[in-house]
Amino acid sequence: MSTAVLGLQWGDEGKGKITHLLAKDARVIVRFNGGANAGHTVIDRGVKFGTHLIPAGAFYPDTLSILSSGMVIDFAVLCDEWQSLSKHLGWSPQLLIAENAHVVLPYHRLQEDLEGSGKHFGTTRRGIAPCYRDKAAKRGLRAGDLLYPDIALSRLQASVDLLKQAWPSDSDVQQLDAKDLLDDLMKQAGPLLPFVGDATSAMMDAFENEEDILFEGAQGTLLDVDHGSYPFVTSSSTTFAGLSNSIGIPSPDVADRLGVFKAYMTRVGAGPFPTRVDGEVEERLRSVGGEFGVTTGRPRDCGWLDLVALKYAVRLNGCTSLAITKLDVLSGFGDIKVCPAYRLEGEAISQFPLSAEILERCEPEYASISGWDDDISQVRDLSDMPAAVMEYIAFIEREVGVPITLVSVGPEPEATMWRA
Ligand code: GDP
Ligand code: IMO
Ligand code: MG
Repeated sequence: MSTAVLGLQWGDEGKGKITHLLAKDARVIVRFNGGANAGHTVIDRGVKFGTHLIPAGAFYPDTLSILSSGMVIDFAVLCDEWQSLSKHLGWSPQLLIAENAHVVLPYHRLQEDLEGSGKHFGTTRRGIAPCYRDKAAKRGLRAGDLLYPDIALSRLQASVDLLKQAWPSDSDVQQLDAKDLLDDLMKQAGPLLPFVGDATSAMMDAFENEEDILFEGAQGTLLDVDHGSYPFVTSSSTTFAGLSNSIGIPSPDVADRLGVFKAYMTRVGAGPFPTRVDGEVEERLRSVGGEFGVTTGRPRDCGWLDLVALKYAVRLNGCTSLAITKLDVLSGFGDIKVCPAYRLEGEAISQFPLSAEILERCEPEYASISGWDDDISQVRDLSDMPAAVMEYIAFIEREVGVPITLVSVGPEPEATMWRA
């Protein structure tokens, strides 16, 4: 059976932990969106990794890790990651990099800084939006172009010429040289070029052969470029619909669409966040939950669970099951708040607004739920869980109408329990 692991909030839900856990039973693991903006924490045999591009399945032998066409690849980051993973494992993970995935270049990061979008949108400054923009504007460089350096050079030259016209007085831009860019890129990408190939056919074969395929989403539903809190979103499709387009297969047979969400809410970067709390409660959620970005180290904003957003995300992805993470972080908070509705201009609404400006105007309407004091981080059997924890899980399940099958109480793979 194939499974897609999808983030249901503003990213950092614990997707890395969950995919790493599930990948041991899969043969093909596919990252389908985003780039090195993602930071997925994996604890593999006691060693902590922050992965940015390589799917978490790469930690197991006899698996194929596909980076599919919806991704944007920064070869410098990918090469580092591949080398450090190979060192840890004692063997090199088998990758397949889609020839039609786009390449993030140093000038994409430069453009992001020049345009000030890092500051305004609170982006990860990994060149993500400029790279996806080049893709849509038909002037991007794709991984497959690197197999033909003359093609890559002419594409780079065209982009560099355009950039120089656009930024006539910026010395960094004026110093760009297509040949130097290509030389650097070939040095970084060189060891990985044998992995560049036709990922779409490989995916089709895997489905036809009824292999167990595991998909690893990056970012979260509320950051989806079309369906998130636009314009405070990333530039890729983070949802199940995006998966289908990325791999080039209509209606792929993915029986389990597993949505991952935290027991509370976080957001990093700019943009509205109705249930954000401030003061002591936020400080405590952040310090107990270790809420600092894996990619940028920025402190994440924290708040109570937003059920309006969660219901929207579950429905949009057609989730068949859910994983709740970081329940351990809520221990000792007294009563826990959740937000089943917003108030917008005096009216109660339960539909997630698609515009950031409207979301900004929404006030949370909270419900209170009994909390628990016990440390639950060592619980390994749900029958040992305090009744209040099970009631919190059951409450969320009733609200969203999809079963919560996985319960996580710590970053380690062992701190995960299946729920019938
Ligand atoms: P991702 O981007 O969705 O893979 O999530 P991140 O790795 O960016 O952030 C999740 C953080 O929470 C990481 O530090 C994980 O190690 C940690 N984590 C995951 N599940 C749990 C959990 O159940 N409890 C606690 N305390 N930490 C968790
Ligand atoms: P994972 O996969 C959390 C956020 C950035 C910013 C916005 C746009 O670890 O869940 P971008 O650099 O993508 O143009 O930034 O999206 N963002 C994430 N937030 N987790 C992520 O990935 C994110 N990837 C991007 O902080 O607000
Ligand atoms: Mg993350």
